[in-house]
Amino acid sequence: MNVTPLDHQLIQLAARKLEEGGLVAFPTETVYGLGADAESPDAVASIYAAKGRPANHPVIVHIAPEADISYWVRELPPQAQQLISAFWPGPLTLILHRAVHISDAVSGGQDTIGIRCPSHPVAQALLREFKGGNGGIAAPSANKFGHVSPTTAQHVRDEFGVTDDSPMVLDGGQSTVGIESTIIDLSRMATHGPVLLRPGDISAEQIERVLGLTVQALDAAAPRASGTLESHYAPHTPVLLVASDQLSIALQQLSLAGKRLALIAYSAAVVANDLKVVQNKSPLLAYFTMSNEPHAYAHDLYAALRSMDQACADVIVVETPPQEIAWQGINDRLRRAAHDSVNAFSADLAT
Ligand code: TXA
Ligand code: MG
Repeated sequence: MNVTPLDHQLIQLAARKLEEGGLVAFPTETVYGLGADAESPDAVASIYAAKGRPANHPVIVHIAPEADISYWVRELPPQAQQLISAFWPGPLTLILHRAVHISDAVSGGQDTIGIRCPSHPVAQALLREFKGGNGGIAAPSANKFGHVSPTTAQHVRDEFGVTDDSPMVLDGGQSTVGIESTIIDLSRMATHGPVLLRPGDISAEQIERVLGLTVQALDAAAPRASGTLESHYAPHTPVLLVASDQLSIALQQLSLAGKRLALIAYSAAVVANDLKVVQNKSPLLAYFTMSNEPHAYAHDLYAALRSMDQACADVIVVETPPQEIAWQGINDRLRRAAHDSVNAFSADLAT
């Protein structure tokens, strides 16, 4: 994507807004972020206020490709350098010890910083313009706390409205990756090795291949990450995960129980079959057919959840994706989206 001259004016405007302590929502390849100057505790506090997010949750700092990462971190382990060479710019966030002069507003009071260099051209243009390319933009996903992350500018406007008080939104099209960055904690290399805090498009295997080390799963002492809360990424409508071979019977039972259904499914045969079955009883209000390829699935996941949420169904039934490692980030997000409604439909599904 090219940044046109008009876009450049918008980018300058956005950068000045950030420099004045304002909020700007901007596209990244993963999801849209709600950005503020990472070195202004007041600006960072206004992100928390806009999102309704608890203040002890750290935010990711985004930097330009040319930026000097050593400004932000106390030490740069060789493993960080290896991962940066392999995956930046791109959907990988590193957790490292923060430099002493960096405000703990961005780190939720912890002594670490989450840092990433996005590959989206609009994000990069903004980062290059903001503070002459030397600043950091603190940006969580541009959604209300706990809700589904936005992958289009319209999703952001749906979250925060379009009033004078709403943050400026830079439109960079639909995010290509579609789920949030992989987060790797390298702040405890000596004792724990690299730890996967949040799975994403870049898999633990890819990271292991670069480092020649085993990536550990999340442990109790790991730095807090709000995306690791059990309930997160959730639409307003309850989400029910159903295995492919149970889908037909579950849809029948739910529809017999008078539930209005929305469906997100990826196996074409299942979708066609179950649509027929259900349409004889109680029509599906809406459905979204997903790809059976994990990258394409991730790309559409949040748009699917948002659009099914608008159907005002009683439940969004989601065909459980394959359990292979390539689907780890997707299964992680869906499990959290479904967390609060895990037992809500057991009576309807009694066999
Ligand atoms: O793809 C992404 O990472 C997107 C885009 C906008 O870059 N951002 C994003 O931000 O997902 P957010 O705030 O929704 O999730 C960031 C995650 C949170 O779970 C947060 O707790 C964790 O990163 N995080 C940030 N800094 C951290 C730190 N110092 N230690 C541990 N976790 C940290
Ligand atoms: Mg988020």
